[in-house]
Amino acid sequence: MNRLSYFLLLAAILPSWLTAQSPTDPQESPEETPALTHFAAATVHPLATAAAIAAFEKGGNAIDAAVAAAVTLGVVDGHNSGIGGGCFILIRTADGTVTAIDGREMAPAAATRDMFLRDGKADTSLSQTGALASGVPGSLAAWEHALKNHGKLTLADLLLPAADLAEAGSPIDEVFARKLAAASSNLAKFPESAAVFLKSDGTPFTEGETVAQKDLAASYRAIAEHGSDWFYGGPFAESVDTWMKANGGIMTRDDLRNYVVKERQPLITHYRGYEIVGFPPPSSGGVHVAQMLNILENFDLKKMEPLPRTHLLAETMKLAFADRAFWLGDPDFAPVPRGLIDADYGASLAEKIDLSKATTVPGHGSPPDAETDVFDDFDRKHTQHLCTADAEGNWVSMTSTINTGFGSKVVVPGTGILLNNEMDDFSAQPGVPNAFKLVGAEANAIEPGKRPLSSMSPTLVLAEGRVIMAVGAAGGPTIITQTLQAIVNHLDLDQEVENAIGAPRIHHQWSPDVLRVEKAMAPQIIEGLKSLGHDVAPTTGLGVSQAITFDPKTVSFHPAHDPRAPGSAEGN
Ligand code: GLY
Repeated sequence: MNRLSYFLLLAAILPSWLTAQSPTDPQESPEETPALTHFAAATVHPLATAAAIAAFEKGGNAIDAAVAAAVTLGVVDGHNSGIGGGCFILIRTADGTVTAIDGREMAPAAATRDMFLRDGKADTSLSQTGALASGVPGSLAAWEHALKNHGKLTLADLLLPAADLAEAGSPIDEVFARKLAAASSNLAKFPESAAVFLKSDGTPFTEGETVAQKDLAASYRAIAEHGSDWFYGGPFAESVDTWMKANGGIMTRDDLRNYVVKERQPLITHYRGYEIVGFPPPSSGGVHVAQMLNILENFDLKKMEPLPRTHLLAETMKLAFADRAFWLGDPDFAPVPRGLIDADYGASLAEKIDLSKATTVPGHGSPPDAETDVFDDFDRKHTQHLCTADAEGNWVSMTSTINTGFGSKVVVPGTGILLNNEMDDFSAQPGVPNAFKLVGAEANAIEPGKRPLSSMSPTLVLAEGRVIMAVGAAGGPTIITQTLQAIVNHLDLDQEVENAIGAPRIHHQWSPDVLRVEKAMAPQIIEGLKSLGHDVAPTTGLGVSQAITFDPKTVSFHPAHDPRAPGSAEGN
């Protein structure tokens, strides 16, 4: 969809937005619309990208544009992310400061280690659906924090157009319709959710049909008027408290009031002379992207043929995910060794890789100083990723989620707000896989106020002090391996951003010991991987990535959305 088409679509459903945002009226004189030379945005939905562009044209910067896209995605792509979920925002401002805003959900105060055990066994239906599944949402606090400290526009500026869009409704795309069909029987268990997402005969809306969300529109407007207090300390917190008490949940008004957004120290490592800025724990993404790059730095990827290079990537992923399962958790509760991103540790893991065959990785490794040098020393498909950038030099890489499709499936009555099921990202019981077949250990056990381990990996890559790439992905643990492959494709294989995120990819997460390979991968590589001993599972699509690259030679942005999903990217 080209830019004019965005505006024509917006004009049909969102007249107030057009009058508010544009220095010219694109409907009347499209040829006068200013060229997109000063900013870039890449998201999973054309209307969210349009909202980001509208924020830029209102005078906003990359931070405003990112929040504009995020609040719009909460309307048009609400099965993936929204105000009832959490996010990680990585920002690099024009003055070179990097900020990592942690808006990850927190376990309610009454949460307990064994809250999902029934007769001694983890019942993951409880962590995935219904009243116990949700952590305390952090996205709104994170958006507000980002805007207050780095934006030029107000939260109200960005929420009100999204409220109009929620009220008018918009036709759902193929992905929304598919996820809705899959979630419809669970959504039907909750009358308020059914009222929003199912038709009066109980069937789900289908592709192209319009879903209007009047309660969500009213909630956005209330927050625009009263600020986030409406959510964390006012009517929304009361509604959650009431619903949870009546439905066997544990989240209270005090849990909402006690939510804290955290600024964490960004995780900075180096790869072949580039600076890689990742998100620290409770993201596992920053740690393991860095760890895997440290392993790969011991090989000359550029010179390798595609089959040994793909095999090497798979072996690298296995080693990193074995460590993830044991060492990673919320650093405020569990000691996460900084040695995981130590270059020498990466080199020692590289030595374990046999380029002639797949190796069984029995378990986690032993990073240096694992007991003493830990991340809490710092300063004190599902999901979506978006990137924005502006001419001043501000960049945002933001990943947001309510976890699996439609989260807990619970819409809080009278609010239109769909709650996440992020409690499933904790390890409910050692060795018991969650929705993503991930296993965890003590480090990621449930504790009150703790944040579940995440794979979200918003990343920035710098060369000579300038950002040259913002990248991240959606899709559970494949987020980490998608981000790795996009970086390697761009930095090592010189691929343009479209190919870097569009090229067929693989995923290995140690457990289960299966190598998932996109079917679009060349057949000779797939066969070659099998002959090297991998248990290959052909897969239609591994996640959805978004990225923006910057070419210092041409001084131009190159935003790209993943061809696997109907996103959009604008700017130059
Ligand atoms: N909910 C998916 C993740 O944060 O990894």
